[in-house]
Parts: sequence; C-alpha cells; structure tokens
Amino acid sequence: ECEKKLQNKVVMITAGPTVEAIDPVRYISNHSSGKMGYALARAAQLEGAEVRLVSGPVSLRDPHGVTTVRVTSAKQMFDYVKSNIADVDVFIGCAAVADYTPVEVASQKIKKNDDEMTLKLKRNPDILAWVGEQQATRFVVGFAAESQSLKEFALKKLQKKKLDLICANDISQQGLGFNSDNNQLLLLYRDGQEKLLDIATKDALAADIMQEIGEHLKQRS
Ligand code: PMT
Repeated sequence: ECEKKLQNKVVMITAGPTVEAIDPVRYISNHSSGKMGYALARAAQLEGAEVRLVSGPVSLRDPHGVTTVRVTSAKQMFDYVKSNIADVDVFIGCAAVADYTPVEVASQKIKKNDDEMTLKLKRNPDILAWVGEQQATRFVVGFAAESQSLKEFALKKLQKKKLDLICANDISQQGLGFNSDNNQLLLLYRDGQEKLLDIATKDALAADIMQEIGEHLKQRS
C-alpha cells in the first residue's frame, strides 16, 4: 500500500519565471512564484524519485533531497535541460518561461528621454517543445496557464509540443494559478483521457500528479 511510485526514476522539473535582462537594472519577467514547480519537486522526491529541479529566480527554499539548480534566463534554463536530460524518465515543464527576450542587452543603463522608446524582442527557445521532439521513451508533461478557452488552448499545446500529459490551469479564477497557494488543474492526456483535480493546495495537487504519472509509467512497462 505504501509502495513508492517513482522509485528508481529520474524526474526533471522546470519551475518559476525566467528573467530576461534589458540592461544592468531592468528586465522582462512574469508573476510565477515557483510554488507549483517546487511542490512537484517535493512530491516526486517523496515518491522515491531522483529529482532535478531547474528554477528561475524565486524566494523559495531548495526542497530537501532535491538537486536544485538556479538559473536566470530562458537560455540558461534550456542549457541546463539539454546538458542533463539524457537519463531523465519524466520531464515536467512547470516554469513560466518568458516567450521573448531583448535582441540586445545594453551593457550600460539605458538613459531615458522624452521620446517613445521601442524595445526589440526575439523569441526564446521553447524548452518543453524541444524535449517533446526528442525520440525517447520519456514521459513528458507540460503546464498551460490560460485566461480563456482553457481546454482548447491546452489541447493545442499538448499536440504541438508532443506531450503525454498537460496540466491546464485557469488563471482567470481568483486565488488560483500564479503566486497563490491553491490551484485547480485539468489533466489532459495524449490518449484523450481527462481528469479534473479540483481546487486544493499546490502540495496536494502535486501529490496527485505524481500518483497519476506513476500509474501511467506502470501501464507502459
Ligand atoms: O509558479 P507559481 O506561482 O506557483 O504558478 C504556477 C504556474 C501558473 C506558473 C504553473 O502552474 C503554470 O501554469 N506554468 C506554465 C505557465 C505557462 O503559461 O506556460 P506556457 O503556456 O507559456 O507554456 C506551456 C508549456 O511550455 C509550459 O509547460 C512551459 O513550461 C513550457 N514552455 C513555454 C515556453 C518556453 N519558451 N519554454 C517552455 O518550456
């Protein structure tokens, strides 16, 4: 009954925001606190997994027994993932990776004047899509934070990024999603199965997700 579901498995999790520098004092980022991703890391560790957590800048403490690597930008997060993914059995992309980054990072603080100012941005690499492209037996999980058409947009991401599972959260609901302690997740599987994990703490949801992943790994083997 108290058998651990992820014994001997290597689980890699991305968490938090990424921070994209504009100049030495300014940046582009988002409101991710890292709470969901860190909860997943703790839950995977409790199920016996070897956990690698790669995190953007957050104010949370490193989870006990988890290899935690702190990065700043999407590029740094991607570099860590590429270098450390070979033996990973389960990959979970929970980070709110900045989609765009400045084309150039000014080496000195940009001086203001009275004109409008235009910032030129380029696309960041899509870390999760890259993992999905790898021909591996790995179980690949994404998250989707949507403010409308939750299921439709999440299903598009599931297919486009070649995922096994996507966990969709509706960020238009007060007190859920970014920076809150609670969340609600709609789990959508590649094979069409779906499951609603109703409002609960991120820790409780993370534990449920590890049970789900454990079951699917068992069915595969
Ligand atoms: O950190 P918290 O405050 O606890 O908040 C948790 C959360 C709301 C950030 C989390 O639950 C969540 O939903 N994370 C995904 C945020 C999101 O909107 O992702 P996305 O729709 O931009 O991307 C979809 C998926 O692709 C995600 O798994 C993301 O990690 C991944 N991605 C996206 C862009 C990119 N360049 N690289 C990626 O890996």
